[in-house]
Amino acid sequence: MHKMKQDNFLRNQWYIAASSKDIKKGGIKGLIILGEPIILGRCKNGKLFSISDNCPHRGTLLSLGKFDGKNIECPYHGWRFNTLGECTLIPSQMRNHRHQADDIKTKSYLVKEHMGVIWVYIKYNDKVEPFPHIENNDFSLKLYVKKTFDCNVDLAVTGLMDPAHGSFIHASTFWRNKRDTREKEKRLKPIKNGWKIETHKVSSNSKAYRIFLGSEPESKISYFLPGIRHEITTTNKYFYSGLTACTPVDNSRTTVHHFMYWNVPGGIFLKYIIKKLTINFLNQDAKAVLWMKEGKKYSKREFLIDDADLQIKWYYELKRNWHKYCYDDDVFINPVRETVARWKS
Ligand code: FES
Ligand SMILES: [Fe+2]
Repeated sequence: MHKMKQDNFLRNQWYIAASSKDIKKGGIKGLIILGEPIILGRCKNGKLFSISDNCPHRGTLLSLGKFDGKNIECPYHGWRFNTLGECTLIPSQMRNHRHQADDIKTKSYLVKEHMGVIWVYIKYNDKVEPFPHIENNDFSLKLYVKKTFDCNVDLAVTGLMDPAHGSFIHASTFWRNKRDTREKEKRLKPIKNGWKIETHKVSSNSKAYRIFLGSEPESKISYFLPGIRHEITTTNKYFYSGLTACTPVDNSRTTVHHFMYWNVPGGIFLKYIIKKLTINFLNQDAKAVLWMKEGKKYSKREFLIDDADLQIKWYYELKRNWHKYCYDDDVFINPVRETVARWKS
């Protein structure tokens, strides 16, 4: 089987790679996405680019070299590459040698910035899938937190769409008292490559929202491949939006990126509190995932129940269907049907 089909990643997909602020003008940064070493860089004029981090000569990480705003110079033998990945100079070549640089190109990636977030397209073939629709908001990015979980993408991503762990894993006096669950009823509908939970009143046991946004908050949430969650929660005065993405580093590490936007007044102190709480939340999830991973060494079996685990089942099915679509050229089928799901959480 082709190597790309074996690793269980989703390709021909847009992945969240970083925050726009991470890549300064004239700067480069090396990272690994789906096991591929990638450079994100920004020219002096602000234009973002992305090329492979592997020097085609002997494989050295190009991100360890220098970027002058136009070319990246490999630290080993000084070969230079422009922002399209084309080799522009081989310093060891004599002037009368055949100019071999023209034949050499390293891989380049499509990149896009949207709402302060950098996305990279990880391809399988030359088909370019449209950039996902994310309901826009006029509020600038307030906070960005990320954490790399020591698990594969499936364990990280299913944690995002699992409503039943909140009152166990995230129990706290601020967020939700332990074992304080309420009956919930949610209407779910298909969207492109995923589903959405229609606008609903935020449960009275989600205390943090009430403290943050005031009374009667309402939420709508969408989930879509490759592992994105987007939530918008509003009251008649305030707005909060959270964009979360699980981006595989490789088969045993996944970076969870969390971007937050809001219009609630409150400066640095509010940011500090929310940052603390978010880091705490992510740490709790990362720990829970490790317990699950440990147990799964002995048995891979799962017993996913109706309603509360429905979204996890959909995720696995969407993923299988995307694999068939991407690798075997089948028609992509979204398995999601409009449903009312009920659970206690
Ligand atoms: S390894 Fe990069 S120039 Fe030789
Ligand atoms: Fe969680």
